Amino acid sequence: MRLYRAKDYNDMSRKAAHIISAQVTMKPDCVLGLATGSTPIGTYKQLIEWYNNGDLDFAEVKTANLDEYKGLTRDNDQSYYYFMHENLFKHVNIKEENTNIPDGTEPDAAKECARYEKVVHELGGVDLQLLGLGHNGHIGFNEPADEYPKETHIVDLQESTIEANKRFFASIDDVPRQAYTMGIGTIMSAKKILLVVSGEDKAAILREVICGPVTPRVPASILQLHPDVTIVADDAALAKL
Ligand code: GLP
Repeated sequence: MRLYRAKDYNDMSRKAAHIISAQVTMKPDCVLGLATGSTPIGTYKQLIEWYNNGDLDFAEVKTANLDEYKGLTRDNDQSYYYFMHENLFKHVNIKEENTNIPDGTEPDAAKECARYEKVVHELGGVDLQLLGLGHNGHIGFNEPADEYPKETHIVDLQESTIEANKRFFASIDDVPRQAYTMGIGTIMSAKKILLVVSGEDKAAILREVICGPVTPRVPASILQLHPDVTIVADDAALAKL
């Protein structure tokens, strides 16, 4: 694991954007695995700025997002489809047909998970997977469990995740209870992984992820076993290390 210490959220965002920008520059038709949540928003903003300056080109880039709430339509402003369009896709020259996100409106979970897993394989795998970190150590929507789910699957969201994500919804009752997510195996098959972490509320879990035992009770701890992981975290998130 490579660990970069950032001063604050903006510094973390810039450092993470540099790594993504290097990937896109070196391989213009790369496959980026993308994440949602509040942490990567600053990283996306920085990428948009460099695109506007003419320093980055997304014309050949392909993307595969980690996860999507089950039951939310694309035009729902809490869907991850909507999030990606608002925070990145509509601001750069990425082609719509090159972007992939699980389809939250597909009611047949087995069908959608098999379809999405195939999509990721047909892309030839992910070159660089961006990840955020849940307070319980989840990555994508892989919640703490007794074993690691390998492939794209449906999950029942834990109360702590519903609680953490309610800030984005009108009320807690509006937070979907299920989601489709890439599995730990899907995530671990990415050639490179970039984990971004910010804020003192993530300090305790980040310590477990880096220094604790590898266990499905802390899903992100499996990153210790990946050969090419970079963590960019700010001082607040690194306070317990
Ligand atoms: C959500 C997403 C994750 C994200 C996590 C942390 O549940 N499914 O992909 O990493 O929350 O979000 P935040 O960055 O807002 O703390």
